[in-house]
Amino acid sequence: MRPLIGTSTKMNLTSRDAGCYFDALLPLVAGATGCDLFVLPPFTSIWVARERLADSGVGWGAQDVHPEESGAHTGDVSAAMLVDLGCSYVEVGHSERRRDYGETDELVAAKIAQILRHAMTPILCVGEPTRRPLDATLEFVLGEVAGGLVDVRPRDLARVVVAYEPVWAIGLGSVTAPPDHVAAIHRAIHSWLDGAARDVAASSAPDRGGAGTNGPGKAATPRVIYGGSVDGITADTLLAADGVDGLFVGRAALEPAQFAIIVAASQRQAARQPRVAGHL
Ligand code: PGA
Repeated sequence: MRPLIGTSTKMNLTSRDAGCYFDALLPLVAGATGCDLFVLPPFTSIWVARERLADSGVGWGAQDVHPEESGAHTGDVSAAMLVDLGCSYVEVGHSERRRDYGETDELVAAKIAQILRHAMTPILCVGEPTRRPLDATLEFVLGEVAGGLVDVRPRDLARVVVAYEPVWAIGLGSVTAPPDHVAAIHRAIHSWLDGAARDVAASSAPDRGGAGTNGPGKAATPRVIYGGSVDGITADTLLAADGVDGLFVGRAALEPAQFAIIVAASQRQAARQPRVAGHL
């Protein structure tokens, strides 16, 4: 499986800044053929991503979307509008949106359904707000996974990316979660997803085999990536943690050179440990 490395620039990068950013980043990651890359700028700079990233191999997308098709929703942006700008990825349920806008699992699930209807890849962000014992962490995180994916049709499950982002590890003044903690949570998310994929295989013949699956009778499971204070120093260790299929980067990626260091780490990881079974 190819590692997936991406960034949301959050509420940073005017269209002019975004142009400079992409111009600086592209030559630095041009050789990164062993991983999949994406950038999620603010809505107002997505057109710049389309202009600069088309044909670069780097995907782009949005940090949010409205769950409905169109209509009287002042200030919101629809999935069709994102498709119109060439978006392939849409982030959903980031802890900052859950915090600032009270986004619930129900709303997150509706957004994911809408993103899939428009043939884009949802990135479902999950993570516990505070440090707590492993059992309680798992209960919280798997609850968000189940809540966010509740409406995903079996055959669409493999099109989702899950981003594990413990809230206490995100942002200025935080440090990345310990790799053994990350591995434990990622293993549990994978096993939840594998269970869902097995249910699919057992209950739905049309979902067996075919493109994007792991073989007859077993549907593919989504990639699970880690986010929270990832930088050029921690990337190697995090990527080596069990069950980590990629990284979702915030602050560090605002500096193109740092993002490129993280991408290089994923290239090394892909070369060291090609994953052959169990996932996409
Ligand atoms: P950070 O943000 O890397 O700045 O901690 C991560 C995130 O919110 O995805």
